[in-house]
Amino acid sequence: MNHAILISIILLLSSLASIQAADAPAGLPPKETVAQRDSRLAWWHEAKFGMFIHWGLYSLAAGEWKGGYYSGIGEWIMYKARIPIAEYEQLAARFNPVKFDAEAWAQLAQDAGMKYLILTSKHHDGFAMFGSKADAFNIVDATPFKRDPVRELAAACAKRGIKFGVYYSQAQDWAAPGGAIWKGQHEADPVYEVPQWDPKQKGDFDTYFNSKALPQVRELLSNYGPIAVVWFDTPLGVMNVERASKLEKLVRGLQPDCLVSGRLSRDFKSDYDSSGDNEIPDLSRAGAWETPATLNDTWGFKKNDHHWKTSDNVIFKLVDIVSKGGNYLLNIGPDGAGVVPQPSQDTLRGVGRWLKVNGEAIYGAGRTPFGEEFGVVPKSQPEKKSRVEKQWRCEVCGANQKRPSTFEPLTHWRCTTQPGKLFIHIFDWPEDGKFQLSAVKDKVVKAYLLADPKRAALKVTQTEAGVSIALPAKAPDPIASVLCLETK
Ligand code: GLC
Repeated sequence: MNHAILISIILLLSSLASIQAADAPAGLPPKETVAQRDSRLAWWHEAKFGMFIHWGLYSLAAGEWKGGYYSGIGEWIMYKARIPIAEYEQLAARFNPVKFDAEAWAQLAQDAGMKYLILTSKHHDGFAMFGSKADAFNIVDATPFKRDPVRELAAACAKRGIKFGVYYSQAQDWAAPGGAIWKGQHEADPVYEVPQWDPKQKGDFDTYFNSKALPQVRELLSNYGPIAVVWFDTPLGVMNVERASKLEKLVRGLQPDCLVSGRLSRDFKSDYDSSGDNEIPDLSRAGAWETPATLNDTWGFKKNDHHWKTSDNVIFKLVDIVSKGGNYLLNIGPDGAGVVPQPSQDTLRGVGRWLKVNGEAIYGAGRTPFGEEFGVVPKSQPEKKSRVEKQWRCEVCGANQKRPSTFEPLTHWRCTTQPGKLFIHIFDWPEDGKFQLSAVKDKVVKAYLLADPKRAALKVTQTEAGVSIALPAKAPDPIASVLCLETK
């Protein structure tokens, strides 16, 4: 090869290697390569399953205010009931969750097979669940409880090798003068505008941002050991590139390994994408993304919400998400006494039992090489055939979402992968005793069930048309049995 050509190839390759993290607008951090960002995300891709915890003063209100019960998500009670700050502060005077047990919560995450845990350190109500010098409206200074759950949970997680992260509402703050307030579903939100209900909320956003948000994020990243993720939320219009990059730089400067969640800013690419709340994409999706989800219909505890998801349902969602390339961040909402509702504990422990047997097919697993298992676009509606539907942006979470699609999901099986292995998660055990796959490009050298301790080989018939595996008459797992195909 000509010398000059060789040199230009080398130059081209080295410039490709130093391409900055995808989509970062010019002049903004991160000043790093894609490879550097990917290495920060390595543990997160391996983890797949995390625990979200929404816990705060709203947990004590439990959906109710002055005898009225409010619809919707419980942590928005201050907004929904338009509670004046001084009245909301009285909840703090009563907040004494003596049943809070960081060890038990972290143990629950571990029993569920969850590898990271993210606690609401400050939600939109402005109340900090950690001791803060920057603002006295916090659990240590404003409650009879006086303990610091961020400290206790960070320690309990560290003991168990669970990564610990914090949720922080960077834009919305309903208790601080100048904090942003979401202005409703039907209005676009390009600019900051406040539907205040208390004169005390009046103020300048930058004053709030510089005197509360930035210092509190600094405290969180300085005082509690390694923080694995800062989970920012509701990037209203105020969270422009300039302000968002201030937060981002602060996090990177204090803890370079800490991940920044996808809801920092609408204009700002952070470490991974967060789907809309409870949103699971129809199809497989490249890149780093996560579905944050509830176990009932609220994040913060509500006394009348008993709409609990079962272990079966959560296992399906976990497998579905992992097979599409995502992470599942599943919420618990402990009550005002610090108790995790029993049905959510039962569901999570059921998932943990399944993961004990089948974890190899989840942790660090890759996406399906197939795709037909996800579902079909109904042929009867050709005009609605396209699945590439217009995106719309969720006003609250800032995530891009698809319009409700015409896609008809199938739930018989899903597939995840490890090098040299295909894992078929079978939710509907075939009555004819055979599992058929249309096309596997590599040779299947062995097939067995993960639930079989002996891993006895099952009969495989492979032709150009596809692969057929002879299964035992009865599924070893009533929820999902995982068939492993080793390939060459
Ligand atoms: C939404 C809500 C919020 C909740 C979050 C969890 O953005 O504003 O209450 O914390 O979703 O994903």
